[in-house]
Amino acid sequence: MYNLKIIIASTRPGRKGPALADWIFDTAKKHTEFSGELLDLAEINLPFLDEPNHPRMQQYEKEHTKKWSATITSADAFIIVTPEYNFGYPAPLKNALDFLYNEWTYKPVGFVSYGGMAGGTRSVQALKQVVTAMKMVPIVESVNIPFFTKHIDEQNKFNADEHIQKSAEEMLKELLKWTETLQQLRNKK
Ligand SMILES: Cc1cc2nc3c(=O)[nH]c(=O)nc-3n(C[C@H](O)[C@H](O)[C@H](O)COP(=O)(O)O)c2cc1C
Repeated sequence: MYNLKIIIASTRPGRKGPALADWIFDTAKKHTEFSGELLDLAEINLPFLDEPNHPRMQQYEKEHTKKWSATITSADAFIIVTPEYNFGYPAPLKNALDFLYNEWTYKPVGFVSYGGMAGGTRSVQALKQVVTAMKMVPIVESVNIPFFTKHIDEQNKFNADEHIQKSAEEMLKELLKWTETLQQLRNKK
């Protein structure tokens, strides 16, 4: 079974990210090849990067970094659930990515984005550039949800329509392919 971490990128009070993350978590759980875990950046609450050494050296001084490193090391694959903030992705996500390097390398990442008309696609495009610097493999089949609030009910539950559900299945299928392939590659290192 592959260890899939689902990262909730937004941290503000009243955010909608957890509703979308719960949905993709439930969808991923139906794929028995993955064991899923939610990583909520608001809960993890990393400070701004405060390590003196480059992350590639893995000479971490802070307990929060050591803990974050262990969490990401145990992952075989990621799904990042991200909104779009001013055509980009939220700053806490960049910070959480920058804390580490080798822990991300040769691991695949799928995206669930949400927003207005553009469905958070600009945020994902910006993110792809960053994750490839860490040699992560971004999955082409991302789930981009425009006008996402219409799918969130009064209980704050996200209800996917057929089209969104299908795009999630496509993304998970591709994610599995890359998870298998990249695990072999990591084993060769
Ligand atoms: C600082 C900020 C900037 C935003 N910029 C965009 C944007 O560029 N594109 C977009 O589609 N929505 C934008 N929005 C609206 C978000 O899609 C919406 O608020 C969404 O709920 C944010 O995700 P969150 O609730 O998980 O924080 C922005 C919202 C905030 C708070």
